[in-house]
Amino acid sequence: MSHNDYIRRVAPGFEIIAHTDNCPVAAVQNVEKKLYAVQFHPEVLHTAEGTRMLSNFVYKVCGCSGDWKMDSYVETTVKVLREQIGDGKVLCALSGGVDSSVLAALLAKAVGKQLTCVFVDHGLLRKNEVEEVCGIFGPGNGNFDLNFICVDARKRYYDRLAGVEEPERKRKIIGEEFIRVFEEEAKKIGAVDYFAQGTIYPDVVESGLGGESTVIKSHHNVGGLPEHVDFKALVEPLRSLFKDEVRQAGRELGLPEYLVSRQPFPGPGLAVRIIGEVTPEKVAIVQDADAIWREEIARAGLDKEISQYYAALTNVRSVGVMGDERTYDYAVALRAVTTIDFMTAESYEMPWSVLNTVTTRIVNEVKHVNRVFYDCTGKPPATIEME
Ligand code: XMP
Repeated sequence: MSHNDYIRRVAPGFEIIAHTDNCPVAAVQNVEKKLYAVQFHPEVLHTAEGTRMLSNFVYKVCGCSGDWKMDSYVETTVKVLREQIGDGKVLCALSGGVDSSVLAALLAKAVGKQLTCVFVDHGLLRKNEVEEVCGIFGPGNGNFDLNFICVDARKRYYDRLAGVEEPERKRKIIGEEFIRVFEEEAKKIGAVDYFAQGTIYPDVVESGLGGESTVIKSHHNVGGLPEHVDFKALVEPLRSLFKDEVRQAGRELGLPEYLVSRQPFPGPGLAVRIIGEVTPEKVAIVQDADAIWREEIARAGLDKEISQYYAALTNVRSVGVMGDERTYDYAVALRAVTTIDFMTAESYEMPWSVLNTVTTRIVNEVKHVNRVFYDCTGKPPATIEME
């Protein structure tokens, strides 16, 4: 109840079943009507017994049986996709992240070569990522039965992002450009009936499409679709899954653990990890710093423990000294969080030795950086990404 808003009275037929010193009505029930209401978040990790409350509600009050399993999800979804798609052609946005990889595997299983995956190199990917993705999904690698196209769209993204500082504007531009690239590829391929997207449930909720929720960030894979899209329909088979469920689906589809347990990477890429204007030079700085951060976390054996970690470029430049020279360079921010569902997160208690090694390496190895910060903020109030 940190927001200081609460109600004082309850409707007839309801009784108060929980309160705190500063919140007179924290939960109410009407047992006869099977109505329950809480004024806190049982789903966040900080709520003691929160999961049990939800579980009791679902099983005992609603009488659900709890027999839903991921393997039946995969099986059912493959069937549904086959029916929905028929002999139509599907175009899929493959980013190489967990969501789109699982999406591609699911669609490949459902419709095989009717699927064309387009991987857009928007110039906002992590260091060496283009090569890695092409290595896994590209032709001749034999892992998946699908058509794969890699588009080099770096210049057009950089051109459109030049001079743009406002986070939502950046996201919007990237989302729009993404769709344009796809439309162009679709034209080259010929008639395409469906456009597949790896939208997952948190994207839906946080984009405010799940009801009355405020728009926290518009996720490009939900919010940025232009009105006139040249596809018959969207296919979004992961729309009802949380991240941990997407990984589980990936395992059941036989994707390698390396891919499935990969940390998430936002659709707008490094653009949301560069505060303010994006330039190719800034992208290079953040790629190099991020590669060092990832390398050292893996070397320290912490990569399995941390849900998501990355380096960001703050828009802050400050005075430093290198040799006998005064410098006026950028500050890099390091972030590492633990979370179950990415709706809430905690900053990881990083050992000082790791921070120290990484800081030394970054300021020595990455040009134009003279200061390194560690982000200690949880979500809320911060989000996982910077923008
Ligand atoms: P935030 O920053 O909202 O991030 O706390 C929650 C999780 O979502 C990822 N994220 C995105 N994923 N498109 C995506 O596919 C996006 O626009 C986007 N923005 C954030 C983020 O990396 C984190 O895992």
